[in-house]
Formats: sequence, C-alpha cells, structure tokens
Amino acid sequence: MAASSLIPRAAVLRMDPYHPPTGGRRNKLRLDFNENLVGSSPRVLDLLQRYVTAADLAIYPEYDHALEELATYFSVATQQLTLTNGTDEAIHLLINTYVNQGDEVIVLKPSYAMYRFYSQLAGAAIAEIPYRPETLAFPLEELLDQITNSTRAILISNPNNPTGTGTTVQAIERILARAVNAAVLVDEAYYEFSGITVLPLITEYPNLFVSRTFSKAFGMAALRCGCLFSHSFNITQIKKAQPPSSVNSLAVMAARVAITDREFTDNYVKEVLAARELLYAGLKRLAIPHFDSQANFVLFQAGSRAREVCEKLRTRGLLVRDRSYEIPGCVRVTIGTRDHVKYFLEELQQIW
Ligand SMILES: Cc1ncc(COP(=O)(O)O)c(C=O)c1O
Repeated sequence: MAASSLIPRAAVLRMDPYHPPTGGRRNKLRLDFNENLVGSSPRVLDLLQRYVTAADLAIYPEYDHALEELATYFSVATQQLTLTNGTDEAIHLLINTYVNQGDEVIVLKPSYAMYRFYSQLAGAAIAEIPYRPETLAFPLEELLDQITNSTRAILISNPNNPTGTGTTVQAIERILARAVNAAVLVDEAYYEFSGITVLPLITEYPNLFVSRTFSKAFGMAALRCGCLFSHSFNITQIKKAQPPSSVNSLAVMAARVAITDREFTDNYVKEVLAARELLYAGLKRLAIPHFDSQANFVLFQAGSRAREVCEKLRTRGLLVRDRSYEIPGCVRVTIGTRDHVKYFLEELQQIW
C-alpha cells in the first residue's frame, strides 16, 4: 500500500505520542495510577452484574434523572453541571469552548499530563509555571504574575498530581479575581481525600469551572464518568461543544448508584488517610524522604535509584510510577489500604 500523503494539522505534527503505561497491569499490585485499590461500591458491581438488561444496552443514553440526582448530591442546580466522559472530556470541552489557536493557556509543572495535551492539540501558546523547588508548594505569586488580559485558560489540579501538594480556597480566589478573561479549571479529582473545594464558588465567579470524577475515590476509572461544573451560562456554552452521548449509559447508571453509597466512599477515604500515615512512618524508618500529600498518592525520593527501584518492584509484582524525569529522584506510589502499604513497605525494604 502507498504511504499516506495526508498532512495532519500543525498542532498535531508538533505533538509527541502520549502512551501512559496502562498495559499488563491486571495481576499486579497497581500502585501506579492513583486508582481505588479495593474497587467500586458493591452496589455498582451488583447493578452491572445483575440488573442491566438488553434494553438498557440498546437505547441511547439519557441523562435527565442522573443530572437531577448528581446535582442534588453535589448541591448545585442541574443547569450548573454537565456529565463528562471522565475529567479528560471536561478538560477537552473547556479548551474547545474557550481557546483559539495561539491563545495563552497557563498550566503548572509538573501536573496532570492532559492539560498540556489538549492545549497543544488546540495549538495554544502554553505557559508553564513550575511548582516551587524543594517544597513542591503551589507557586501562587509566580502564577499571578503570569496572568494578563490575554490569558484564555488556566488549568489547576487541586491537590496536584503528581506532587500531592494543594492550594487554598483563598489562593484560588486571588487567581479568579486576576484572571477575568480566562476560563479557570480547578480539577478536584482527589477532592474526597483533601476535603478542600471551590465548588460552592461557581455562582460567585463567572470564570470558575470545577471538575470531579468517579475514577478515584469511587473506584470507577474503567467506566469513564465525571462532572464539569460552572455558572449556568457557561455550562450552556460548554454543552454546545459536547457530543450528545459522550457518557455511556452504564457509566451513568453506575454513577447514580455510587452516590447512594456514601458510607463506602467515606470508609475508603478514611482507610487511605490512615494508610498514608503508615506510609510516612515506614518511609521515615527507612530514612527515605517524602513530600506530604493531600491525595491518595505520595512522592518519595529514591535519588539516582528511582528507575531501578521501580523496575525491581515491578519484577516483584508491584507497580509504582517513576517521576524522576520531571522531579529529580522521585517515585510516586498510590495509597490503598493499610495492608497494601505494609506489603509495599516490606517489598521496598527488601530492594532498598
Ligand atoms: C489531576 C487528575 N485529573 C484527572 C485525572 C483523570 O481523571 P478521569 O479518569 O476522570 O479522566 C487524573 C488521573 O490520574 C488526575 O490525576
């Protein structure tokens, strides 16, 4: 067959392929993607295994009931949210709705890769503000200094992946007050672990967008369901840029059931927070420095051995993420239960 002579858009040509290591993870202890390590609420599994009918699969998704129930759960009006195919679609929609080619988008560094991904895809001019060296604290003053009237979007993960560090509601309010011409996304994928949210501010700040996901504390990463919240007039615009059936019916049914089981999520979060303390203590015993985290993962310092540590753990059936390419010497480990942490520490000690 002849080679293709099709030429992609310049923005696509400039991009490198992005392949997170999602293959071959099934039979390992997966401490590498910040997932829920015990799975979703049993009610969700029960729904999918016992109650889904052939008719449920034959019909295009309907969102009305889900929107009402999720709006009640998140204490917003139905006009203030849209369901998304994971947070990734929320980021995509925000960029598609507000950012033209060449517009300035501010992201932080290091942060969740999809902010840069969708900004690059749109051909945006990306300004990257580094987290503070040494502490990995949120660089508020540096970010405020970068904002101008031509800034069109600012993408913030709070708490941030992979640093685990977060910022305050007051700091985000300062950004919103300065960035009057920008759509400001606060991605709260790890909200359940941090307890810090700006969601109630969507009525006060017309440039604020907040995303939440069912992929982390709720244990439903495979289903791809999230929510994007903003002032109702923004959500009306966002929905114009959204395909009508982007979230599949099973994900929507699962989300509706997941929010009925608060006890499950609350217990999991409590367990993770206890396990995180255990991890801190264990790392200290091994004299391994770490960064305190507000999420269900922790960055620790493996120095020049970061890659080797990840490889050795992999051969023992444990997956962790080498982040040394963006934060020298650092490895990120997802926290599950205290038993998971104990096992991880035992294995780490063996290879340290
Ligand atoms: C900050 C942040 N946002 C979003 C996501 C992905 O969320 P979703 O599965 O809802 O697309 C991740 C996943 O690692 C993340 O770290």
